[in-house]
Amino acid sequence: MYYNIIKTVHSYWAFLVIIILTLIVINSIIAKFSGRAFNTKDLRLSLFGLIFSHIQLLIGLILYFTSPWFKQFYQIGMDLLKNAESRLYLIEHPLINIVAIIFITLGWSLHRRQLDSSKKFLRIGMFYGLGLIFLLSRIPWDSWI
Ligand code: HEM
Repeated sequence: MYYNIIKTVHSYWAFLVIIILTLIVINSIIAKFSGRAFNTKDLRLSLFGLIFSHIQLLIGLILYFTSPWFKQFYQIGMDLLKNAESRLYLIEHPLINIVAIIFITLGWSLHRRQLDSSKKFLRIGMFYGLGLIFLLSRIPWDSWI
């Protein structure tokens, strides 16, 4: 029961995360090349990207341990990983998404240390962009609404 609610929240929240990260990356590229200053709007947008992706990580972790995939993994063990679909849900998707969120967090911390606007946009654009690519690479597209 809880599993279905968490899965639905995780599915919809994924849209928000992907949309906001895409906006941040496009905004950083345009701003870097136009040479404009990093303003409060840019700071808020990057902070929202950081918070939204961390919330998705938390929802994902709860989903992982409540999902039927995990129950099967627990019962069947490593043999389950010979199947591409269960490997995606049990190993690839969670691990790659954790790496993606590490990149996003790094981008946030590194941009804070810079005073120059162009360098701030570069740190945000590059690390959030890498995070977005990682995240898109391991989405279970076939089952997503
Ligand atoms: C920002 C990072 C993430 C994004 C954008 C994301 C996105 C998605 C999407 C779109 C689905 C398909 C949902 C559906 O079939 O309706 C999914 C499934 C799933 N995600 Fe994530 N996810 C993220 C992070 C994580 C993390 C960190 C974990 C675990 C530690 C996780 C665990 C799962 C599991 C277990 C499923 C399969 C649910 C099931 O069908 O039983 N996700 N995720």
